[in-house]
Amino acid sequence: MLGSDIEQIKLKLSKPIALVGMMGAGKSHIGSALSQSLDLEFFDSDKEIEDKAGQSVADIFENFGETKFRDAEQNTILELLGRKPCVIATGGGAFVNDEIRAALLDKAIVIWLDADIDTLWQRVQKSKVRPLLHTEDPRARLQTLLEQRNPLYGQAHIHIDTSGQTRQPDVIKALYEFLNADNV
Ligand code: S3P
Repeated sequence: MLGSDIEQIKLKLSKPIALVGMMGAGKSHIGSALSQSLDLEFFDSDKEIEDKAGQSVADIFENFGETKFRDAEQNTILELLGRKPCVIATGGGAFVNDEIRAALLDKAIVIWLDADIDTLWQRVQKSKVRPLLHTEDPRARLQTLLEQRNPLYGQAHIHIDTSGQTRQPDVIKALYEFLNADNV
């Protein structure tokens, strides 16, 4: 992408950019790189929740349960959406919540980072930080979540397949095309 294209994105952008998709889709990684390219502030909703709670997501699940985590996730994302344009990486389950999904679709440009099960599994299998995968068969759990969530992620404004490799330039190109189609 040319520097002038990036400048055009910056000029046209009036809302936060939110990244949604499964764990292992690359939301934090791509989100951070995207925010740097666009000179925007970057927020990772899981990190915000962890900072506020003073403990890790896995510990919040263990100490308070998933419902409390989901409440904190909703409060955190709704609060982030009130800010000036920025890049927000959401946790994989956030877009499943009806209220969060409606708010994101209304107040942000939502980018779904999609990937197939093999790619996702390859990226998350060694991670110990994802409580939903603390099961006997984490790959099967990941597959089930993927099948349940894909129709919801499909409501995002922009869809990018990151299977194999995460490609930040593809995200910028898709964003550029979306904004130039006068979608916002
Ligand atoms: C979750 C994904 C995690 C984190 C929590 C729940 C999910 O975030 O929010 O463990 O429901 O898919 P990442 O998608 O950043 O791994």
